[in-house]
Amino acid sequence: MPKSDHPLNVDGQPRAFFGRRSGKRLHSGQQALYADLLPRLTISLPEDGKLDPDAIFGGKGQRILEIGYGGGEHLARQARENPETGFVGCEVFTGGIAKLVQAVAEDGLDNVRLFTDDALKLLMALPDASLHAVYLLYPDPWPKTRHHKRRFVSPTTLAELARTIGPGGCFRFATDIEDYANWTLAHILREPRFRFAPDAPGSWHQPFAGWVPTRYEQKARREGRSTSFYFSFERCEAPKAQG
Ligand SMILES: C[S@@+](CC[C@H](N)C(=O)[O-])C[C@H]1O[C@@H](n2cnc3c(N)ncnc32)[C@H](O)[C@@H]1O
Repeated sequence: MPKSDHPLNVDGQPRAFFGRRSGKRLHSGQQALYADLLPRLTISLPEDGKLDPDAIFGGKGQRILEIGYGGGEHLARQARENPETGFVGCEVFTGGIAKLVQAVAEDGLDNVRLFTDDALKLLMALPDASLHAVYLLYPDPWPKTRHHKRRFVSPTTLAELARTIGPGGCFRFATDIEDYANWTLAHILREPRFRFAPDAPGSWHQPFAGWVPTRYEQKARREGRSTSFYFSFERCEAPKAQG
């Protein structure tokens, strides 16, 4: 990928992208949907790099983005349960994209659109306050210290989330990796447009309302990681007072 295709970090350096794009071969039914339906669901970035969100969903209802939806089970369920809300899913893994395209076809979901590249590129193309919520559920943990800079949560991505989520909206984050939970809280504290106000200490271990474990949460439980962190960060009306 040419350097200029990479969004820049806050320090002006191109941000590297480490998502795995392909896995097992798609079966023939998935291949057909991939070729036929996926292009109709896919959001392409315009030449000028500015996306009109009203053109995606016709300007009606709320707009919610899920980043790294994996097999898309959570996103498809949300879309079924909230037919008036427009959902955009970002995923780069071919097998996961194919699964969600299949769910969209089987359930006749007309409120789902997909972006098949780095979610940061989509965020950077969206106007201010154009989203009501963003979900980042079990992002790749990159446990080794030297790989932490690959984590999706960074000053650059949080600044873009704060810009694109409208005041009163929220950013939901879930992980089973305590170090990533701490990493995210440390970064959120430095982003004054987000507020973390849990009901009580430890309430962040309670899943979000209506939660059904995602594929990665199920994997974590099978592997003996029994605790998860469910953070909901509110996009504040005004920056927090300093000091
Ligand atoms: C650990 S999996 C979790 C999948 C799902 N959310 C779940 O809980 O089962 C993380 C997913 O994020 C995707 N991903 C990683 N970085 C991404 C990015 N910058 N933009 C879009 N998707 C990304 C990966 O391809 C992977 O499928």
